[in-house]
Amino acid sequence: MNECVLIAPCHFGLEAVLKREIVDLGYEVILVEDGKVTFKGDEDAICRANMFLRTAERILLKVGSFKALDFDTLYNETYKLDWENYIPQDGRVWVTKANSIRSKLFATVNIQSVMKKAIASKLCKVYGLNTLPETGADYPLRVVLNKDEVTIGIDTSGESLHKRGYRQLTTKAPIEETLASALLMLTPWHHDRILADPFCGSGTFAIEAALMGLNIAPGINREFTAENWKNLLTRKNWYDAVTEANDLEIRDRKLQIYASDIDPNVLKLARKNASLAGVEEYINFRCAPAEKFAPKGDYGFIVTNPPYGQRLEDIETAKKIWAGFCEQFKLLPTWSCYVISPIAETEQIMGRKADKKRKIYNGMMKTDFYQFLGRKPRKDNENNSIRNN
Ligand SMILES: C[S@@+](CC[C@H](N)C(=O)[O-])C[C@H]1O[C@@H](n2cnc3c(N)ncnc32)[C@H](O)[C@@H]1O
Repeated sequence: MNECVLIAPCHFGLEAVLKREIVDLGYEVILVEDGKVTFKGDEDAICRANMFLRTAERILLKVGSFKALDFDTLYNETYKLDWENYIPQDGRVWVTKANSIRSKLFATVNIQSVMKKAIASKLCKVYGLNTLPETGADYPLRVVLNKDEVTIGIDTSGESLHKRGYRQLTTKAPIEETLASALLMLTPWHHDRILADPFCGSGTFAIEAALMGLNIAPGINREFTAENWKNLLTRKNWYDAVTEANDLEIRDRKLQIYASDIDPNVLKLARKNASLAGVEEYINFRCAPAEKFAPKGDYGFIVTNPPYGQRLEDIETAKKIWAGFCEQFKLLPTWSCYVISPIAETEQIMGRKADKKRKIYNGMMKTDFYQFLGRKPRKDNENNSIRNN
């Protein structure tokens, strides 16, 4: 395998952020569609994409695509693909997930079993076996049927890439690490500016910002399914990615990241998560109500997801909490606030229209990412925030 096609699924609404990350990593993007970005790569790209992309959900190695309106075609077209180029004789292959959107074939269990039969039959023929031993590495397949077009990818990541390995302890309603990273990337925040999350929960925004600020690769503390693929990748491919990640880390940087929450138990978890991520010393954690948010310094960035409530009475409480924070924010004319929330009255409560608003799906929940911009620093004032602290 030399050149290959890789597919990176992501949160709906954040495709442009992921595209930019892939281009910055040095790869050619072929296609951007709802919830995924397709790009050209090679063996190193599989390792580097898993290691460095902060906003991709996983990395799939594309095996092929074809149109199928019935199960016979699905079987025959699956059989035709060159499975032996990807799956060794002892490989364990199965369709771990099939998604059908606006397609004739929609019974995912049947799609999974028909495809598994076709692949097993093809591999048995090629390897001259009656049954596959399936004693080797895992090659889980992810299949999408979109308007009858079947696209098949082998999952190189395993656990979703939002699992960086540091958040073993979660609070209620944590935001996914990939989404938190993408939202941070949608702001102009940079490691030499102040960042604060006054509703920090398990600390995801603060921890992701610290990882970004120190250039720590999001995948450095986890494993990937494709690490066991001896037929397609070498140890060297992985070692090179790890060495590159280690070389890029910058630990001797002063960061100004503030994370607070009203709940002391939640804050304990946030600290523990930051420690697991190796960034605890770079984040200033504090137990405090957002209604008393009064940071030092100018030109800071607030990136947060406040409580949103799910039942009617909870929504009313969530609105009151947001209103309390908004009063404090009004006292900070140079600060900008970026907030992800499903609450429709977010702008009304803030007392002004957001300078920018972007629709984003947080799982199945439709939310908006509101950007309330503060006064811009004068050019000669650019680093004022650092000097003030
Ligand atoms: C939606 S969660 C934030 C989740 C967080 N982004 C994460 O990834 O875990 C909202 C958080 O706001 C906190 N909270 C609720 N009322 C608060 C208040 N008045 N001041 C500060 N924090 C508050 C809750 O304890 C909760 O951790």
